Amino acid sequence: MTINKVDILLGLQWGDEGKGKVVDFLSRDYDIIARFNGGPNAGHTLEFNGMKHALHIIPSGICHQDKENIIGNGVLVEPCIFLEEIASLESKGFSPKNNLIISNKAHLILPTHRLMDAANEKSKGDKKIGSTLKGIGPAYTDKVARTGIRIGDIFEKDFFEKYNSTKTLHLNQIKALGFKVEDFKIADKALEDYEKEWFKSLEELKKFNIQNTEYYINNAINNGKKILAEGAQATMLDIDFGSYPFVTSSSTISAGVCSGLGIAPTCIGRIYGTTKAYCTRVGSGPFPTELFDEMGEKLCEQGHEYGVTTGRKRRTGWLDLVALKYACMINGVTDLMLMKIDVMDNFETVKLCEKYSLDGTQIDYIPYSMSSANLSPVYTEYDGWLTNVSKIREFEDLPKNMKTYIKAIEDKTGIRVSLISVSPDREDTIFRNK
Ligand code: GDP
Ligand code: IMO
Ligand code: MG
Repeated sequence: MTINKVDILLGLQWGDEGKGKVVDFLSRDYDIIARFNGGPNAGHTLEFNGMKHALHIIPSGICHQDKENIIGNGVLVEPCIFLEEIASLESKGFSPKNNLIISNKAHLILPTHRLMDAANEKSKGDKKIGSTLKGIGPAYTDKVARTGIRIGDIFEKDFFEKYNSTKTLHLNQIKALGFKVEDFKIADKALEDYEKEWFKSLEELKKFNIQNTEYYINNAINNGKKILAEGAQATMLDIDFGSYPFVTSSSTISAGVCSGLGIAPTCIGRIYGTTKAYCTRVGSGPFPTELFDEMGEKLCEQGHEYGVTTGRKRRTGWLDLVALKYACMINGVTDLMLMKIDVMDNFETVKLCEKYSLDGTQIDYIPYSMSSANLSPVYTEYDGWLTNVSKIREFEDLPKNMKTYIKAIEDKTGIRVSLISVSPDREDTIFRNK
Protein backbone atom coordinates (compact mmCIF):
# COMPACT_ATOMS: atom_id res chain seq x y z
CA MET A 1 0.00 0.00 0.00
CA THR A 2 1.40 3.42 -0.87
CA ILE A 3 0.75 6.19 1.58
CA ASN A 4 0.50 9.60 0.00
CA LYS A 5 2.46 12.14 1.88
CA VAL A 6 1.83 15.65 3.05
CA ASP A 7 5.01 17.72 2.78
CA ILE A 8 5.60 20.58 5.20
CA LEU A 9 7.26 23.94 4.77
CA LEU A 10 8.00 25.90 7.94
CA GLY A 11 10.28 28.48 9.52
CA LEU A 12 13.32 27.47 11.58
CA GLN A 13 14.24 30.85 13.10
CA TRP A 14 12.14 33.72 14.50
CA GLY A 15 9.88 34.12 11.45
CA ASP A 16 10.08 36.02 8.15
CA GLU A 17 12.52 33.53 6.64
CA GLY A 18 10.83 33.81 3.24
CA LYS A 19 8.22 31.05 3.67
CA GLY A 20 5.74 32.82 1.38
CA LYS A 21 8.21 32.94 -1.49
CA VAL A 22 9.11 29.25 -1.21
CA VAL A 23 5.51 28.07 -0.85
CA ASP A 24 4.57 30.07 -3.94
CA PHE A 25 7.59 28.62 -5.77
CA LEU A 26 6.87 25.02 -4.72
CA SER A 27 3.10 25.28 -5.35
CA ARG A 28 3.56 24.17 -8.96
CA ASP A 29 4.36 20.66 -7.63
CA TYR A 30 1.31 20.39 -5.34
CA ASP A 31 -2.49 20.17 -5.66
CA ILE A 32 -3.34 21.67 -2.28
CA ILE A 33 -1.62 24.25 -0.06
CA ALA A 34 -2.86 24.31 3.53
CA ARG A 35 -2.08 26.70 6.42
CA PHE A 36 -2.07 24.91 9.79
CA ASN A 37 -1.32 27.58 12.42
CA GLY A 38 -1.18 31.25 13.26
CA GLY A 39 -3.34 33.96 11.84
CA PRO A 40 -3.00 37.60 10.83
CA ASN A 41 0.22 37.91 12.86
CA ALA A 42 1.86 36.28 9.83
CA GLY A 43 2.99 38.30 6.83
CA HIS A 44 4.07 36.18 3.87
CA THR A 45 5.40 37.94 0.78
CA LEU A 46 5.20 36.67 -2.80
CA GLU A 47 6.87 38.41 -5.72
CA PHE A 48 6.48 37.48 -9.37
CA ASN A 49 5.85 39.20 -12.71
CA GLY A 50 6.87 42.49 -11.13
CA MET A 51 4.07 42.25 -8.53
CA LYS A 52 4.34 41.98 -4.77
CA HIS A 53 1.62 40.35 -2.61
CA ALA A 54 1.45 40.26 1.18
CA LEU A 55 -0.64 37.46 2.67
CA HIS A 56 -1.61 37.07 6.32
CA ILE A 57 -4.31 34.41 6.75
CA ILE A 58 -4.63 33.08 3.20
CA PRO A 59 -2.19 30.34 2.10
CA SER A 60 0.64 31.32 -0.24
CA GLY A 61 -0.56 29.04 -3.06
CA ILE A 62 -3.52 31.32 -3.71
CA CYS A 63 -2.02 32.98 -6.80
CA HIS A 64 -2.00 29.61 -8.59
CA GLN A 65 -5.63 29.44 -9.70
CA ASP A 66 -5.48 25.68 -10.35
CA LYS A 67 -4.43 24.88 -6.78
CA GLU A 68 -6.76 24.43 -3.81
CA ASN A 69 -5.87 26.49 -0.73
CA ILE A 70 -7.06 25.51 2.72
CA ILE A 71 -7.23 27.52 5.93
CA GLY A 72 -6.99 24.70 8.46
CA ASN A 73 -8.59 24.30 11.88
CA GLY A 74 -5.36 25.40 13.61
CA VAL A 75 -5.54 28.87 12.06
CA LEU A 76 -7.18 31.99 13.53
CA VAL A 77 -9.37 34.06 11.22
CA GLU A 78 -10.05 37.77 11.69
CA PRO A 79 -12.93 38.54 9.28
CA CYS A 80 -11.98 42.16 8.46
CA ILE A 81 -8.32 41.36 7.77
CA PHE A 82 -9.35 38.27 5.81
CA LEU A 83 -11.67 40.29 3.55
CA GLU A 84 -9.03 42.97 3.03
CA GLU A 85 -6.72 40.22 1.76
CA ILE A 86 -9.44 38.91 -0.55
CA ALA A 87 -10.08 42.43 -1.90
CA SER A 88 -6.38 43.03 -2.46
CA LEU A 89 -6.03 39.76 -4.42
CA GLU A 90 -9.14 40.56 -6.47
CA SER A 91 -7.80 44.02 -7.28
CA LYS A 92 -4.75 42.31 -8.80
CA GLY A 93 -6.87 40.05 -11.00
CA PHE A 94 -6.99 36.88 -8.86
CA SER A 95 -10.22 35.08 -7.89
CA PRO A 96 -9.46 33.68 -4.44
CA LYS A 97 -13.10 32.73 -3.82
CA ASN A 98 -12.71 29.96 -6.42
CA ASN A 99 -9.81 28.12 -4.82
CA LEU A 100 -10.11 28.66 -1.09
CA ILE A 101 -11.67 26.41 1.56
CA ILE A 102 -11.96 27.36 5.23
CA SER A 103 -12.23 24.98 8.19
CA ASN A 104 -15.40 25.32 10.23
CA LYS A 105 -13.22 24.54 13.27
CA ALA A 106 -10.86 27.49 12.78
CA HIS A 107 -11.35 29.98 15.60
CA LEU A 108 -12.42 33.58 15.11
CA ILE A 109 -10.51 36.59 16.37
CA LEU A 110 -13.09 38.87 17.98
CA PRO A 111 -12.67 42.65 18.18
CA THR A 112 -12.23 42.33 21.94
CA HIS A 113 -9.40 39.82 21.48
CA ARG A 114 -7.48 42.65 19.89
CA LEU A 115 -8.27 44.96 22.78
CA MET A 116 -7.16 42.25 25.19
CA ASP A 117 -3.88 41.87 23.31
CA ALA A 118 -3.22 45.60 23.69
CA ALA A 119 -4.22 45.56 27.37
CA ASN A 120 -2.04 42.50 28.14
CA GLU A 121 0.97 44.05 26.44
CA LYS A 122 0.51 47.41 28.15
CA SER A 123 0.21 45.76 31.55
CA LYS A 124 3.56 43.95 30.98
CA GLY A 125 5.43 47.26 30.57
CA ASP A 126 9.02 46.69 29.47
CA LYS A 127 8.49 42.92 29.69
CA LYS A 128 6.07 43.03 26.77
CA ILE A 129 6.27 40.29 24.13
CA GLY A 130 6.20 42.74 21.22
CA SER A 131 3.01 41.12 19.90
CA THR A 132 1.67 42.08 16.49
CA LEU A 133 -1.51 43.07 18.42
CA LYS A 134 -3.75 41.08 16.10
CA GLY A 135 -5.45 39.27 19.00
CA ILE A 136 -3.51 36.02 18.60
CA GLY A 137 -2.66 35.30 22.27
CA PRO A 138 -6.17 36.06 23.59
CA ALA A 139 -7.91 34.07 20.81
CA TYR A 140 -5.77 30.96 21.36
CA THR A 141 -6.24 31.42 25.11
CA ASP A 142 -10.02 31.26 24.59
CA LYS A 143 -9.61 28.19 22.37
CA VAL A 144 -7.78 26.32 25.12
CA ALA A 145 -10.06 27.70 27.84
CA ARG A 146 -13.03 26.40 25.79
CA THR A 147 -14.58 29.83 25.57
CA GLY A 148 -13.56 30.47 21.95
CA ILE A 149 -15.86 30.95 18.94
CA ARG A 150 -15.32 28.87 15.83
CA ILE A 151 -16.23 29.75 12.27
CA GLY A 152 -18.87 27.01 12.28
CA ASP A 153 -20.60 28.84 15.14
CA ILE A 154 -21.56 31.76 12.91
CA PHE A 155 -24.26 29.56 11.36
CA GLU A 156 -25.70 28.54 14.74
CA LYS A 157 -28.76 30.09 16.35
CA ASP A 158 -26.97 30.91 19.59
CA PHE A 159 -24.09 32.75 17.88
CA PHE A 160 -24.92 36.20 19.32
CA GLU A 161 -25.38 34.75 22.77
CA LYS A 162 -21.92 33.13 22.54
CA TYR A 163 -20.41 36.31 21.12
CA ASN A 164 -21.83 38.47 23.88
CA SER A 165 -20.78 36.17 26.68
CA THR A 166 -17.19 35.98 25.38
CA LYS A 167 -17.15 39.74 24.85
CA THR A 168 -18.35 40.33 28.42
CA LEU A 169 -15.58 38.07 29.68
CA HIS A 170 -13.02 40.15 27.79
CA LEU A 171 -14.39 43.49 28.96
CA ASN A 172 -14.20 42.28 32.55
CA GLN A 173 -10.61 41.13 32.05
CA ILE A 174 -9.63 44.49 30.58
CA LYS A 175 -11.18 46.18 33.61
CA ALA A 176 -9.39 43.79 35.97
CA LEU A 177 -6.08 44.81 34.39
CA GLY A 178 -6.90 48.38 35.39
CA PHE A 179 -7.83 49.72 31.95
CA LYS A 180 -10.93 51.14 30.29
CA VAL A 181 -12.10 49.92 26.90
CA GLU A 182 -11.67 53.47 25.61
CA ASP A 183 -7.94 53.25 26.37
CA PHE A 184 -7.41 51.15 23.23
CA LYS A 185 -8.31 51.33 19.56
CA ILE A 186 -8.60 48.61 16.93
CA ALA A 187 -7.14 49.69 13.59
CA ASP A 188 -7.58 53.29 14.80
CA LYS A 189 -11.28 52.73 15.57
CA ALA A 190 -13.26 52.62 18.80
CA LEU A 191 -14.70 49.20 19.70
CA GLU A 192 -18.32 49.95 18.60
CA ASP A 193 -17.18 51.25 15.21
CA TYR A 194 -14.87 48.34 14.59
CA GLU A 195 -17.52 45.86 15.73
CA LYS A 196 -19.89 47.12 13.01
CA GLU A 197 -17.27 46.43 10.33
CA TRP A 198 -16.48 43.07 11.90
CA PHE A 199 -20.12 41.92 11.75
CA LYS A 200 -20.42 43.14 8.17
CA SER A 201 -17.30 41.14 7.25
CA LEU A 202 -18.72 38.11 9.04
CA GLU A 203 -21.73 38.15 6.69
CA GLU A 204 -19.30 38.11 3.75
CA LEU A 205 -17.26 35.33 5.33
CA LYS A 206 -20.41 33.16 5.46
CA LYS A 207 -20.46 33.08 1.65
CA PHE A 208 -17.10 31.28 1.44
CA ASN A 209 -16.58 27.53 1.12
CA ILE A 210 -16.60 26.57 4.81
CA GLN A 211 -16.47 22.88 5.73
CA ASN A 212 -14.87 20.19 7.87
CA THR A 213 -11.55 20.41 6.07
CA GLU A 214 -10.12 17.41 7.94
CA TYR A 215 -12.37 15.19 5.79
CA TYR A 216 -11.48 17.15 2.65
CA ILE A 217 -7.75 16.78 3.27
CA ASN A 218 -7.87 13.10 4.20
CA ASN A 219 -10.01 12.32 1.13
CA ALA A 220 -7.50 14.23 -0.98
CA ILE A 221 -4.64 12.19 0.54
CA ASN A 222 -6.51 8.96 -0.23
CA ASN A 223 -7.13 10.14 -3.80
CA GLY A 224 -3.42 10.68 -4.44
CA LYS A 225 -3.41 14.49 -4.24
CA LYS A 226 -0.17 16.19 -3.27
CA ILE A 227 -0.43 18.52 -0.30
CA LEU A 228 1.96 21.16 1.03
CA ALA A 229 1.37 22.34 4.62
CA GLU A 230 2.48 25.96 5.10
CA GLY A 231 3.68 27.08 8.49
CA ALA A 232 3.41 30.56 9.94
CA GLN A 233 5.85 32.09 12.46
CA ALA A 234 8.72 29.71 13.20
CA THR A 235 10.31 27.20 15.54
CA MET A 236 11.98 29.71 17.85
CA LEU A 237 8.54 31.33 18.32
CA ASP A 238 6.83 27.99 19.04
CA ILE A 239 4.68 27.87 22.16
CA ASP A 240 6.60 24.85 23.54
CA PHE A 241 10.10 25.05 22.08
CA GLY A 242 10.54 28.75 21.30
CA SER A 243 12.22 31.34 23.52
CA TYR A 244 9.31 31.29 26.01
CA PRO A 245 7.59 33.53 27.01
CA PHE A 246 8.70 35.58 23.98
CA VAL A 247 6.83 33.35 21.57
CA THR A 248 3.55 33.19 19.71
CA SER A 249 0.64 31.10 21.02
CA SER A 250 0.50 28.26 18.47
CA SER A 251 2.38 25.13 17.57
CA THR A 252 4.58 26.29 14.72
CA ILE A 253 6.51 23.03 14.33
CA SER A 254 5.98 19.92 12.18
CA ALA A 255 3.99 18.24 14.97
CA GLY A 256 1.53 21.16 14.72
CA VAL A 257 0.59 20.10 11.20
CA CYS A 258 -1.22 16.99 12.46
CA SER A 259 -3.39 18.87 14.96
CA GLY A 260 -3.68 21.98 12.79
CA LEU A 261 -5.05 20.11 9.77
CA GLY A 262 -6.39 16.84 11.19
CA ILE A 263 -3.98 14.42 9.56
CA ALA A 264 -2.08 11.45 10.97
CA PRO A 265 1.70 11.53 11.58
CA THR A 266 2.05 8.62 9.13
CA CYS A 267 0.97 11.00 6.33
CA ILE A 268 3.92 13.35 6.75
CA GLY A 269 6.51 13.25 3.96
CA ARG A 270 9.31 15.72 3.46
CA ILE A 271 9.89 18.54 5.90
CA TYR A 272 11.29 21.66 4.29
CA GLY A 273 12.84 24.05 6.81
CA THR A 274 13.45 27.65 5.76
CA THR A 275 16.28 29.70 7.20
CA LYS A 276 17.77 33.00 6.21
CA ALA A 277 21.51 32.98 5.58
CA TYR A 278 21.61 35.27 8.64
CA CYS A 279 19.11 35.85 11.48
CA THR A 280 16.35 38.33 12.20
CA ARG A 281 13.84 38.76 14.96
CA VAL A 282 11.00 41.24 15.38
CA GLY A 283 9.55 41.97 18.82
CA SER A 284 11.16 41.29 22.20
CA GLY A 285 13.10 38.27 23.45
CA PRO A 286 16.55 36.70 23.42
CA PHE A 287 18.62 36.73 20.24
CA PRO A 288 22.17 35.50 20.98
CA THR A 289 23.76 36.55 17.66
CA GLU A 290 22.11 39.97 17.47
CA LEU A 291 24.37 42.68 16.03
CA PHE A 292 24.26 46.24 17.33
CA ASP A 293 26.92 47.58 14.97
CA GLU A 294 27.11 48.75 11.36
CA MET A 295 27.08 45.09 10.17
CA GLY A 296 23.64 44.70 11.73
CA GLU A 297 22.51 47.94 10.07
CA LYS A 298 23.85 46.70 6.75
CA LEU A 299 21.92 43.42 7.03
CA CYS A 300 18.78 45.40 7.86
CA GLU A 301 19.15 47.83 5.00
CA GLN A 302 20.26 45.35 2.33
CA GLY A 303 17.69 42.77 3.43
CA HIS A 304 14.90 45.38 3.72
CA GLU A 305 14.22 43.97 7.15
CA TYR A 306 10.97 45.70 8.04
CA GLY A 307 7.92 43.69 9.16
CA VAL A 308 5.23 42.88 6.57
CA THR A 309 2.44 42.96 9.17
CA THR A 310 3.49 45.81 11.46
CA GLY A 311 6.21 47.69 9.54
CA ARG A 312 8.53 47.37 12.54
CA LYS A 313 12.27 47.28 12.00
CA ARG A 314 13.61 43.74 12.41
CA ARG A 315 16.60 43.04 14.65
CA THR A 316 19.46 41.38 12.72
CA GLY A 317 22.43 39.13 13.43
CA TRP A 318 24.67 36.35 12.11
CA LEU A 319 23.30 32.88 11.41
CA ASP A 320 22.93 30.92 14.64
CA LEU A 321 23.74 27.27 13.94
CA VAL A 322 23.05 26.18 17.53
CA ALA A 323 19.46 27.41 17.18
CA LEU A 324 19.23 26.07 13.62
CA LYS A 325 20.36 22.59 14.65
CA TYR A 326 17.82 22.63 17.48
CA ALA A 327 15.04 23.63 15.06
CA CYS A 328 16.06 20.87 12.62
CA MET A 329 15.91 18.34 15.45
CA ILE A 330 12.50 19.44 16.75
CA ASN A 331 10.97 19.39 13.26
CA GLY A 332 12.78 16.45 11.67
CA VAL A 333 13.84 18.67 8.79
CA THR A 334 14.72 16.69 5.65
CA ASP A 335 15.72 19.66 3.45
CA LEU A 336 17.04 23.11 4.23
CA MET A 337 15.90 26.06 2.15
CA LEU A 338 18.48 28.82 2.43
CA MET A 339 16.96 32.25 1.89
CA LYS A 340 18.28 35.76 1.27
CA ILE A 341 21.90 34.75 0.82
CA ASP A 342 22.16 37.57 -1.78
CA VAL A 343 21.77 40.09 1.06
CA MET A 344 25.40 39.35 2.02
CA ASP A 345 26.73 39.66 -1.56
CA ASN A 346 28.93 42.63 -0.70
CA PHE A 347 30.20 41.56 2.72
CA GLU A 348 34.00 41.16 2.98
CA THR A 349 33.53 38.51 5.66
CA VAL A 350 30.58 36.60 7.09
CA LYS A 351 30.25 34.74 10.39
CA LEU A 352 28.55 31.59 11.61
CA CYS A 353 27.77 30.98 15.27
CA GLU A 354 28.78 27.36 15.79
CA LYS A 355 28.65 27.28 19.60
CA TYR A 356 27.64 29.42 22.56
CA SER A 357 29.79 30.31 25.50
CA LEU A 358 27.83 30.05 28.75
CA ASP A 359 29.54 31.16 31.95
CA GLY A 360 32.87 30.57 30.21
CA THR A 361 32.06 27.04 28.98
CA GLN A 362 31.42 26.27 25.31
CA ILE A 363 28.08 24.56 24.65
CA ASP A 364 26.29 23.51 21.48
CA TYR A 365 22.75 23.21 22.81
CA ILE A 366 20.00 25.71 23.64
CA PRO A 367 20.15 26.37 27.39
CA TYR A 368 16.92 26.53 29.41
CA SER A 369 17.19 30.29 29.56
CA MET A 370 18.43 31.94 26.41
CA SER A 371 18.28 35.31 28.14
CA SER A 372 21.36 34.86 30.33
CA ALA A 373 23.72 37.83 30.22
CA ASN A 374 26.53 35.26 30.34
CA LEU A 375 25.51 33.64 27.06
CA SER A 376 27.51 34.76 24.06
CA PRO A 377 28.04 33.42 20.52
CA VAL A 378 31.26 31.74 19.41
CA TYR A 379 31.88 32.55 15.74
CA THR A 380 33.79 31.11 12.83
CA GLU A 381 34.61 33.67 10.18
CA TYR A 382 34.35 33.01 6.44
CA ASP A 383 35.51 35.05 3.45
CA GLY A 384 32.68 36.82 1.64
CA TRP A 385 31.99 36.14 -2.06
CA LEU A 386 31.69 39.75 -3.25
CA THR A 387 29.59 38.72 -6.26
CA ASN A 388 26.02 39.55 -7.27
CA VAL A 389 24.34 36.13 -7.28
CA SER A 390 20.74 37.11 -7.99
CA LYS A 391 20.73 35.87 -11.58
CA ILE A 392 22.62 32.63 -10.96
CA ARG A 393 20.39 29.56 -11.54
CA GLU A 394 22.73 26.60 -11.05
CA PHE A 395 24.41 25.64 -7.78
CA GLU A 396 27.66 24.89 -9.61
CA ASP A 397 27.79 28.50 -10.86
CA LEU A 398 27.71 30.03 -7.36
CA PRO A 399 30.94 31.68 -6.15
CA LYS A 400 33.39 29.35 -4.42
CA ASN A 401 33.29 31.22 -1.10
CA MET A 402 29.51 31.02 -1.02
CA LYS A 403 29.65 27.28 -1.64
CA THR A 404 32.08 26.99 1.28
CA TYR A 405 29.60 28.89 3.49
CA ILE A 406 26.71 26.66 2.37
CA LYS A 407 28.80 23.51 2.87
CA ALA A 408 29.59 24.63 6.44
CA ILE A 409 25.85 24.94 7.15
CA GLU A 410 25.25 21.48 5.68
CA ASP A 411 28.13 19.95 7.64
CA LYS A 412 27.07 21.45 10.96
CA THR A 413 23.38 20.54 10.57
CA GLY A 414 23.88 17.28 8.69
CA ILE A 415 21.08 18.36 6.32
CA ARG A 416 21.28 19.14 2.62
CA VAL A 417 20.53 22.66 1.43
CA SER A 418 18.03 21.80 -1.32
CA LEU A 419 16.99 25.32 -2.24
CA ILE A 420 18.90 28.57 -2.36
CA SER A 421 16.94 31.78 -2.81
CA VAL A 422 18.85 34.63 -4.42
CA SER A 423 16.24 37.41 -4.65
CA PRO A 424 12.61 38.05 -3.61
CA ASP A 425 11.38 37.03 -7.06
CA ARG A 426 9.80 33.60 -7.56
CA GLU A 427 12.11 32.84 -10.48
CA ASP A 428 15.35 33.72 -8.71
CA THR A 429 15.60 30.38 -7.00
CA ILE A 430 18.10 27.52 -7.23
CA PHE A 431 16.40 24.18 -6.59
CA ARG A 432 18.84 21.30 -6.15
CA ASN A 433 16.38 18.41 -5.80
CA LYS A 434 16.32 17.66 -9.49
P1 GDP B 1 7.75 34.93 5.58
O1 GDP B 1 6.97 35.51 6.70
O2 GDP B 1 8.61 33.79 6.03
O3 GDP B 1 6.92 34.56 4.39
O4 GDP B 1 8.76 36.07 5.10
P2 GDP B 1 8.39 37.64 4.88
O5 GDP B 1 7.64 37.76 3.62
O6 GDP B 1 7.81 38.21 6.10
O7 GDP B 1 9.83 38.26 4.76
C1 GDP B 1 10.75 37.86 3.79
C2 GDP B 1 11.14 39.08 2.96
O8 GDP B 1 12.30 38.77 2.20
C3 GDP B 1 10.09 39.46 1.93
O9 GDP B 1 10.16 40.84 1.72
C4 GDP B 1 10.51 38.71 0.69
O10 GDP B 1 10.07 39.32 -0.51
C5 GDP B 1 12.03 38.81 0.81
N1 GDP B 1 12.76 37.66 0.25
C6 GDP B 1 12.42 36.36 0.20
N2 GDP B 1 13.42 35.63 -0.31
C7 GDP B 1 14.42 36.48 -0.60
C8 GDP B 1 15.75 36.33 -1.13
O11 GDP B 1 16.20 35.23 -1.42
N3 GDP B 1 16.49 37.45 -1.27
C9 GDP B 1 16.02 38.69 -0.91
N4 GDP B 1 16.83 39.73 -1.08
N5 GDP B 1 14.80 38.87 -0.41
C10 GDP B 1 14.02 37.78 -0.25
P1 IMO C 1 5.60 35.07 9.79
O1 IMO C 1 4.62 33.94 9.52
C1 IMO C 1 7.98 37.26 12.69
C2 IMO C 1 6.34 37.62 16.74
C3 IMO C 1 5.92 38.99 17.22
C4 IMO C 1 6.13 38.84 18.71
C5 IMO C 1 5.74 37.39 18.97
C6 IMO C 1 4.30 37.22 19.44
O2 IMO C 1 5.44 36.24 8.90
O3 IMO C 1 6.99 34.55 9.87
P2 IMO C 1 1.87 37.50 18.37
O4 IMO C 1 1.28 38.56 17.52
O5 IMO C 1 1.88 36.15 17.74
O6 IMO C 1 1.30 37.47 19.74
O7 IMO C 1 3.42 37.93 18.57
O8 IMO C 1 5.91 36.72 17.74
N1 IMO C 1 5.71 37.18 15.46
C7 IMO C 1 6.36 37.12 14.31
N2 IMO C 1 7.61 37.47 13.96
N3 IMO C 1 7.18 36.69 11.77
C8 IMO C 1 5.93 36.30 12.09
O9 IMO C 1 5.15 35.61 11.23
C9 IMO C 1 5.45 36.55 13.40
N4 IMO C 1 4.28 36.33 14.03
C10 IMO C 1 4.46 36.71 15.29
O10 IMO C 1 6.71 40.00 16.66
O11 IMO C 1 7.50 38.96 19.00
MG1 MG D 1 6.62 37.36 7.61
